[in-house]
Amino acid sequence: MDINEYYRLAKVEDNHWWYRSVHRLVIDEIKKGPVPTRSRPGLKMPMILDVGCGTGGLTEKLASFGLTVGVDISNLALGLKQHSKAEYINGSVNNLPFSDNSFDLVTCISVFYHRRVIDSKAASEIFRVLENDSRAILIMPAFKWAFGSHDESVHAARRYSMSEATALWKNIGFTVIATRYIFGTLFPEFVIKRLLDKIGLTGRRVSDLTELPGWLNGVFGLVCRFENWLSKWVRSPFGSSLYIVVEKP
Ligand SMILES: C[S@@+](CC[C@H](N)C(=O)[O-])C[C@H]1O[C@@H](n2cnc3c(N)ncnc32)[C@H](O)[C@@H]1O
Repeated sequence: MDINEYYRLAKVEDNHWWYRSVHRLVIDEIKKGPVPTRSRPGLKMPMILDVGCGTGGLTEKLASFGLTVGVDISNLALGLKQHSKAEYINGSVNNLPFSDNSFDLVTCISVFYHRRVIDSKAASEIFRVLENDSRAILIMPAFKWAFGSHDESVHAARRYSMSEATALWKNIGFTVIATRYIFGTLFPEFVIKRLLDKIGLTGRRVSDLTELPGWLNGVFGLVCRFENWLSKWVRSPFGSSLYIVVEKP
């Protein structure tokens, strides 16, 4: 990612509506059922891995559910984290520095589209380090046509269609447990931004991670909470990200 993007991430991840919503989605998923705890010598807690943990906003929250490790390719990101309830390791998702079947839960939020991620290799690494009958919670960017200046600023190489993303995980051997689009209610705002990008009205490499006025950040956050509540009954046919839960059989 652009260096500035790591500083922005560290600054906004505790309050920005996007991060707060994503963190809530992941935590709600975990709360649906206990993370399985395997018998490991001297350890009675689940082992959790946050892949591409960035500056650790989600990783720190995951630490309430088990022994948590964050791994990221960027030493700068790891150096900017503000708390340390988890353990942090520098490494790549293409070659995870852990032995087979080490983790009971893996999370991987907005990492799979990066240039430095070889997606089939990375998906098989997540499969390898997960225990059998354990799950991974993934958020991936949706719609190839939506590639815009924010994607450039985070050094993205690709976005995914839902069918491509689910095929990626299935081909590795995962069972797909849940899929849905997220941020459907804010999709019109997202599409307008991307259209402005396409016709050159926004600069190149302009990040979406700007600090919004507090009231607007609050409104967006509430809209996302409402969408999440509604998702028990209604599935949005579109959204800027894909929410996917997979299980290693
Ligand atoms: C958009 S940030 C998301 C950070 C974090 N998951 C979050 O949601 O706050 C993407 C992160 O992926 C990391 N990343 C990119 N390529 C990677 C790779 N091959 N292995 C591990 N981390 C990678 C980047 O350094 C960056 O911290």
